[in-house]
Amino acid sequence: MGLISQHSIDDVIRANDIVDVVSRYVRLEKKSGLNLFGLCPFHDEKTPSFSVVPSKQIFYCFGCHKGGNVIKFIQEIEHISYPEAIRLLADQAGVVLDEEESDGQWKIKRERRQQAMSALLEAARYFYSTLESPEGQPAREYLARRGIDRGIYRSFGLGFALDRWDGLFQHLKEKGFEESAMTDAGLIRRSSQGNWIDFFRGRVMFPVIDLQGRILAFGGRRIEDDGPKYINSPETLVYQKGKHLFGWPQAQRARSEEMIVVEGYMDVIALARAGVRNVVAPLGTALTPYQAQLLGRTARNVLLLFDADRAGTEAALRAHEVLQQANVSARFVLLDGAKDPDDYLNRFGKGRLVAALAESLDVTGYQLALLAQEQKEIPLLPENETRNRALSILSEEPDGVTRELYARRLGERWRLSSKTIMEEVERRRTQRRDDKMKVSNVDYRDSRSPKSMTHLQQRRAPAQTSEDNHAMNLMALLVTEPSLIKERPRIEESMLEGFSLSTAVREMLLSDDTRMPLQPADFSPGALRQLALSMIDSAADGTLTMATFLARVDQLDVQDDSNKKKTAENVEALRRAFLQTIKTFEKMRIKPDDKRRLYKRALLTMRAESWENDASMLNDKGSEMEISGQKENADRAFSKAAELMMSAQIMRTILQGEQ
Ligand code: UTP
Ligand code: MN
Repeated sequence: MGLISQHSIDDVIRANDIVDVVSRYVRLEKKSGLNLFGLCPFHDEKTPSFSVVPSKQIFYCFGCHKGGNVIKFIQEIEHISYPEAIRLLADQAGVVLDEEESDGQWKIKRERRQQAMSALLEAARYFYSTLESPEGQPAREYLARRGIDRGIYRSFGLGFALDRWDGLFQHLKEKGFEESAMTDAGLIRRSSQGNWIDFFRGRVMFPVIDLQGRILAFGGRRIEDDGPKYINSPETLVYQKGKHLFGWPQAQRARSEEMIVVEGYMDVIALARAGVRNVVAPLGTALTPYQAQLLGRTARNVLLLFDADRAGTEAALRAHEVLQQANVSARFVLLDGAKDPDDYLNRFGKGRLVAALAESLDVTGYQLALLAQEQKEIPLLPENETRNRALSILSEEPDGVTRELYARRLGERWRLSSKTIMEEVERRRTQRRDDKMKVSNVDYRDSRSPKSMTHLQQRRAPAQTSEDNHAMNLMALLVTEPSLIKERPRIEESMLEGFSLSTAVREMLLSDDTRMPLQPADFSPGALRQLALSMIDSAADGTLTMATFLARVDQLDVQDDSNKKKTAENVEALRRAFLQTIKTFEKMRIKPDDKRRLYKRALLTMRAESWENDASMLNDKGSEMEISGQKENADRAFSKAAELMMSAQIMRTILQGEQ
């Protein structure tokens, strides 16, 4: 990394108004004359002695005597070095720094950048005037069809690249640009015959503009049905797609504390059509940490408004994570009944789009809403599975009050008390914490005391919940179709192709044990195994009915604690859960083949889970042996545990692939 040229430093200072910058950290008030005052961020005080002098672009504190220019301010407040402060400010303002390389190369680079920038600017002008010319008619018609009027396309500087080989190339040549500048700008490329041709042809052009109004790149949308839908400028001397956002300068003008992030060019335009201007889109990539920081500098809150398809919702969740890491709070908008904001606007109109924006969800609410949507769309999804997923989403929510709130809503939907749900959620949280402790070696050793050992064992005795859910699905299926009891889950050799497995793991997966029909041992000890014992017998001899099954549930001896009342509640909850599941299966009228498939899946998942349980038990034992000096036995336990873990993971992978 070279030195930063004085010229760049001047650029940075010029591009960052000190009042704007300081205002992001300090509430400034105009007290007297031309200066602004606020409470000093560098020392404790009750009356403002920190001043900013806009005319001189400096700050000074009369209390602690700190002062300087905008770079110094950032240096002090962010606790970073001088060059770091310059870089931060440069990034914020979109200034490209010239780094003084030892051989003075930066001057040449700087020259090249400037040439590329002017070529880009000229290209944008050319595209725009083409759009407005008689030749631009097909593009204007296209835009009109999509509801984009002149006011909108002008405000984004849209243009049109003719469907011609070298329209722009010839134009730029006439204007005196070198070919090198055009390639540096990513505007032309070599054809297979070796001629220079335009990079964008037959496309509506979306310029990517920075805060200084410089054109950095383009996205081009096809208007005929051929070729990729969008093509984007390559990364160049002046453009890195992960560092910019489409619509950024336009959105800044909206002066809003909230920034809406959408997926694509057309979504930004759609919201503008609805009068919403604080909108940006990443440029054909996932949201980067850099973009997250950029957003965080001007927005208090980000609204993620992504496409409704799977790719969109996944991208939204990923964007949320990236924003969270940059300490930027973000919420989600879920569009119902349309694939993206543009589509939503066309179907339901401005009013509903704007109203939808006001109904944002936090990450937990968003995931629960997606789950509910999914369940509506995929009727074959067992309700228990959905319930299980909802509970695990809820247990990820860090805020206790929020957890409680959603637990209530879920309780209403499922007709369960929110207390039951909360208990389950809290149990999962504790368990996850314990599991995490077990994974990390240090904490693991710390939890070796005899007391925590018994705690671990106690915890494991009542079944793990997802296991319960698979068990419950399986039993419900069996009640509706007792002949399933004869099914053997099959793991075929061919399913293991492509995995590199140790012999032990391979043997384990293909063993007869794995392929056995349902066994009582497939259930964790306790209530469910009790139930399974009688169920397996009655299914085999043909006496299993809904009535006999429910009678067995009522007789269950669910004694997890000494508390009798809680026990009765547990039986009741179990009974209700079974009834619900059975009812759902019946309502769905699942085909016999699908039933068989679901049944085998549930069974194999339970087996994988019990391997995982055995593995963690063995790990516990291994550590105990290690401590008591039985090194060899300990190693044996650890390696057996590793085998079980591996087998379980492969099993899960196979099951996933089969879905
Ligand atoms: P979409 O396919 O959702 O495009 O891709 P869109 O913006 O909604 O456009 P219309 O309404 O179909 O015309 C979202 C974004 O992904 C990038 C673009 O940035 C686009 O805006 N993309 C998509 C590409 O870069 N190339 C493609 O071929 C498609
Ligand atoms: Mn889209």
